[in-house]
This record gives sequence, structure tokens and C-alpha cells, in this order.
Amino acid sequence: MIGKTEFNFSMPVERCNTASMKWGRYKGRDIIPLWVADMDFCSPPPVIDALHKRIAHGIFGYTMPPDSLNEAVVERLQADHGWTIQPQWLVWLPGLVTGLNVACRAVGQDHDEVLTAVPIYPPFLTAPANSRRNIIKVPLQEKDNRWTFDFERFESAITARTRLFLLCNPHNPVGRVLTGDELAALAAICEKHDIIICSDEIHCGLLLDDDKIHLPTATLGPEVAQRTITLMSPSKTFNLPGLGCAFAVISDEKLRRQFIKAASGIVPLVNALGFVAAEAAYRYGADWHAQLLEYLRGNRETIARAIADMPPLTMAPLEATYLAWIDVRNAGIKNPIEFFEAGGVGMQDGADFDGPGFVRLNFGCPRKTLEEALRRMSVAMEKLGA
Ligand SMILES: Cc1ncc(COP(=O)(O)O)c(C=O)c1O
Repeated sequence: MIGKTEFNFSMPVERCNTASMKWGRYKGRDIIPLWVADMDFCSPPPVIDALHKRIAHGIFGYTMPPDSLNEAVVERLQADHGWTIQPQWLVWLPGLVTGLNVACRAVGQDHDEVLTAVPIYPPFLTAPANSRRNIIKVPLQEKDNRWTFDFERFESAITARTRLFLLCNPHNPVGRVLTGDELAALAAICEKHDIIICSDEIHCGLLLDDDKIHLPTATLGPEVAQRTITLMSPSKTFNLPGLGCAFAVISDEKLRRQFIKAASGIVPLVNALGFVAAEAAYRYGADWHAQLLEYLRGNRETIARAIADMPPLTMAPLEATYLAWIDVRNAGIKNPIEFFEAGGVGMQDGADFDGPGFVRLNFGCPRKTLEEALRRMSVAMEKLGA
């Protein structure tokens, strides 16, 4: 009998010599980099094999999205989320940040408003101004140790000039998977005020709670689908962000045309290797993906236990992503990032997400690396208390 392939997520892989953004920041310093959101794991072997095969061909000309990739996406969305889409609804992009910016440019006019809830992944905060839109930020609320929307506050922030809502689900940085009720409440408000929804679902393959499911916003109903631009990519799930391959799903033809027009001339084609990697990941990455989630669940437990032992640091339960959102507000630390860097751990500043007093820790790394980082954090906290 042929045994199941075991993937080794515990094996450290040297990244310092690869111009890695994550590892380059602290080059030559004894600081464990747990900041920008990529993982220190090799991509699934079928992806690497497909890339080798494509590279062996030797010609890297302008490349169109392969029909077989469109079919793979249609099949995946159906199988994973019960979402039936048409291949012509897909608009391929070199990244989701591009998609957020194109959405801002495509919807409304100069000085119209774009709504988002904070804390949030930083490009949500900068995309509106890049297209001469004004941003409206509504704070998420932490209630009973759980992050959620304050729906009343959300609706009351809307004005006659609000045209677009940038939504992130699963949420970076708070790690929530929004429920059907939460999504329906947001969608109802957007419908009432005729607001387009740009739903960033890049983390939809990284649900860590077994009892949660990812509901694409556009599956709530035809009226919601009609006003939704969904952004997705295999990049987070299969660790391919350096290959720049993402897509928008836009079922409404007029909205899709607007989006494509806003992108024209400034958004390049996706590179040939990105397409190849995406298709191999979607078609053949399932075993690797299942084992990745198991490993990340273990890391999540490790970090939850460690933070519980480092009062007054706290974190709300994390439902998805490999990004922990840690509350350091009660620790009396003036600059948390500098403080933990001095202790040998590099994280991302909550202030960048409009969440000052928090740090974001990327636990997409071998467990031993994570344990060492948590040990260093604990030592730093002990010294603080001494
Ligand atoms: C919510 C969210 N959107 C977009 C991105 C980045 O997407 P891309 O690299 O495709 O531009 C990230 C990366 O961390 C993210 O967390």
C-alpha cells in the first residue's frame, strides 16, 4: 500500500539569501522575523514540479490566463464554497492590493467616500487616497473577547457620498471568520445605501476552526452578488505571494467593465509562472493544504498558551489566518515593536493597521522558530516586570 505523503513543516529553510522582504529587514541581526504575511514553508511539491516543467520550456512570452486555470478556479470555488461562477466573471490581477486600488478607482468619482473597518491590513487605508477618494474608518469592536462590527456605528458613518465598502473576510488582522448573519447585516446596509462591496477573501483557505465555513460575500444572494467585487488568490494558502497571481470575481457585467477599464494601461498581465503555480495549487495542492492547516492549528495553540502566560498581554481567539493580533496596551510599553525587537523578535506594529497598542505576529513558521520567539518575548516581559 502506498502511504500518505507527509509534508515536513518543521524543517527550517534558509531564506536570507533570497532577497526575502521578511528576512531582509533584520539581516545580520539576531531578530526572528515574524512580520510580513508569507510563510517559511516550501510550497506544495506539485506546484514546484509544475514550475520546473514550465521553466524547462525556456520561453516566457506574454501569457494569457489559461482556460484550464479558469476551469480550475470555477471547480475550486464550487467544491470549497458551493459558489457557482462563470469563467467570464474572472479578472486576473498581479495581486490583491492592485485589486483594492482598482476597485477604488472603478467606483465613484473624485472625493467620493470609501468605507472600511479598522484595524485593517494597511493597503485598505491607503487605496482610497491613491484614487482621490476619501476614506471613512469605522472601528471594529471587541466584545466578550471577540472582534465584530458595530453595525449601528457602521451605518451611521455612511453619507450621500459613500460609494464603496472595502471588506476583509477572513479578517486580517483580527482573525475573524464572519458569520452569515454578520455578512448579511453588512450587505443589507450596503444595499440600502447603494454601496458597492469589495470583498477581500485572500485568507479564505486558512480557516483554523473546524466548525467555521467561509462564506463568500457574493453567495449571500443575487442582489449582493450584483454589487460585489470579490478578490481572491492562492497566494496566502499555498505560500506563493512572490509569484503575483490573483483574481477578481465580478458577476455584474457593468461593474466588471468598470473594473477592467479602471485597470487598463496601469495593471500588467499576470506573469507566466504565476498562472502555472496557481493552477497546480488549486488542482493538486489539497493534501498539502490539509496538513498545513493541522500544523498551523498546532502553532495557534502554542501561541495562545504562551500569550496566556505573559500577562498583561492578551489575544482574542483566532479563527483563521496565521496572523496573531496581540493586545499589549496594558503592558505600559511605549514602542512595542522596538521593545520586542530589542528582545529578538520582529513583528508588525498595530498602528500601521490603525490599531495602536497591538502587535501582529506571523506564526507561519516551523514550531521551533515560533517557540524560540515566544521564549524571547516571555523573557522581555519578565524583564519589564522585574
Ligand atoms: C487582507 C489582505 N489582502 C491583500 C494582501 C496582499 O495581497 P497581494 O500580495 O496579492 O497584493 C494581504 C497580504 O497579507 C492581505 O492580508
